[in-house]
Amino acid sequence: MDMRPIGVFDSGLGGLTAVQVLRRILPEESLVYFGDTARVPYGGRSRETLLKYARQDLAFLRSQDLKAVLIACGTVSTTSLGALQAENDLPIVGVVEPTCQRAAEVTRNRRVGLIATLASVRSGAYEAALHRLDPAVEVLCKPCPLFVPLVENGRFRRGDVVIETVAREYLTPLLAQGIDTLILGCTHYPLLEELIADICGPGVTLVSASEESAFAFKRLLNAQGLRAPEGRQGDASFFVSDQAEDFKRIASIFLQEDLQHVAGRVDIDGY
Ligand code: DGL
Repeated sequence: MDMRPIGVFDSGLGGLTAVQVLRRILPEESLVYFGDTARVPYGGRSRETLLKYARQDLAFLRSQDLKAVLIACGTVSTTSLGALQAENDLPIVGVVEPTCQRAAEVTRNRRVGLIATLASVRSGAYEAALHRLDPAVEVLCKPCPLFVPLVENGRFRRGDVVIETVAREYLTPLLAQGIDTLILGCTHYPLLEELIADICGPGVTLVSASEESAFAFKRLLNAQGLRAPEGRQGDASFFVSDQAEDFKRIASIFLQEDLQHVAGRVDIDGY
């Protein structure tokens, strides 16, 4: 049993899609969320910059007394997970491994599509993880650099001609290559799930990094005896690195609940 909160971070608010799952499957856990809204998007940045940002994000979270951290960011997970795990003495979970495990389980024809940020695709981390699980899997990758800024600007709904046009352009080449499974390798993408499912059709199974990493995080807490006692209601605190005024409205969309919390502002350069 461990009553300390869990920590979750992302480049922006996309990681809240993982928080939404965590709050459903681990309602008794308290959590601290940090979104680096001053520096989002991360997806086009270099490895060095991403590691610097990731270290600062984690250093802020570690200023709270946490028991474990979920990196609810594909871009940080694909580029910086190993370094962060080596440098820190608390359990840290990334999104890549659990997402690939699920994709390897569900694919029938072993043609798996991956959509993610440019940095994630360049890292090759998803491909490497899938090939460790099943060397015969063919991984077809498509970086989607316009998705994060569009989602952060509220352009993710079905019927929105801008996001639909962009999504069709990104997905058509993957579909033409016969994928039967598509990894949503960035935690902003669950907001696009309905739209992506419409474009892909019923023959393609979507695998969400947000969902799979949240389930993996629960397994880790169980395995290490870190769960809070059942029956209690955990609380949540939210922090961002840019203005916090719009947080409640935008976070409510990502969390699919009417959030009443106010976010704290963090000067992330100080970490
Ligand atoms: N949610 C982040 C991810 O999963 C978005 C990265 C970005 O800011 O570009 O990769």
